Amino acid sequence: MHPLDDPQIYRRLDPQGMIDLVARFPAMGTEAWEAGLRLQLPPGPHTTVVILGMGGSGVGGDLLAALLRPAFPLPVVVVKDSRVPGFVGPQTLVFACSYSGDTEETISAYTAARQAGAPAIVITSGGTLEGLAAAHGDAVVPVPRGIPPRAALPYLFLPMVGALRYLLPRADLPGEWAEAHAVLEELAGELGRDVPTDRNPAKQLAQRLVGHLPAVYAATSDLGAVAYRWKSQLGENGKVLALWHAFSELNHNETVGWEDQTLAGRVAVVLLREPEEEPEVTRRIAATREVSFRAAASVSEVTARGRGRLARLLSLVLFGDFVSVYLALLRGVDPTPVPPIDAIKRRLRG
Ligand code: PA5
Repeated sequence: MHPLDDPQIYRRLDPQGMIDLVARFPAMGTEAWEAGLRLQLPPGPHTTVVILGMGGSGVGGDLLAALLRPAFPLPVVVVKDSRVPGFVGPQTLVFACSYSGDTEETISAYTAARQAGAPAIVITSGGTLEGLAAAHGDAVVPVPRGIPPRAALPYLFLPMVGALRYLLPRADLPGEWAEAHAVLEELAGELGRDVPTDRNPAKQLAQRLVGHLPAVYAATSDLGAVAYRWKSQLGENGKVLALWHAFSELNHNETVGWEDQTLAGRVAVVLLREPEEEPEVTRRIAATREVSFRAAASVSEVTARGRGRLARLLSLVLFGDFVSVYLALLRGVDPTPVPPIDAIKRRLRG
């Protein structure tokens, strides 16, 4: 029996049930979407949207920017820092996202944004940020407690999408979520722990990554946020270093690094692709496979599902989340704890 098909491995290595949290993504998404629909935006006009958040709480901002880029009338800027850009002011709509509510950078950036007069919505499970939001009279979107921040992504991301539907009246965001939810349910059914490895592409991909340096490359810059999520999940759940980049930018720099043939043979490439690509993208990836990836340990492809952008982004996110947990188990590590993140936070708190 393949190790990932043995129920023992989950009991032994995943006692806190990260695999179950990943499988609950679609259900969490429904709750989070409904929370977003109940949210009222602070009065405008808004000229910019800024999302504050670090790590697992910041990636929702990256996904939001990727989702909205083609149609949204305002710039969407993600800030992963304790300072905010100089343009932030009374017409900037701020989302401050921190699972714990105690992340230093997010608290400082939120405080700076409020001092600059920016209206804000806070997404958190509690902590200092919740108290500050109450003091400022800002709306708080509550996130359920007891979940690792990265596994709470639906709660940290989807309320922002639901809330912004007012600023995108011509887009059918509720329809996009309905499609995304159906796609996520379908994928969770295909990639879950009870689906044996010979029929489970997430388990198979995790197997190909073991012992290699994963390089997750997005076919387009729009999917770059997802490649970054994969890299972060492979790091935090799988406890491995990983590269990420996006076409076509990677053809202007990283491609040259593949000349290092010794290291290239240890790299397992994962290409994140769209179902209908521009012919230019297809040609570019084919050329890169021939020129750069010849010596790679393996080249795997994962194709997004769905018609809408939300389904496409989230289907790739969910696939990568499953892969990261399976990789952890194959490597004999517990996907949930992140001791270095905790140790550095403790040291900085003195
Ligand atoms: O996954 C994690 O635990 C981290 O990436 C955290 O999300 C990050 O350190 C920020 O903390 P928080 O999400 O509580 O703001």
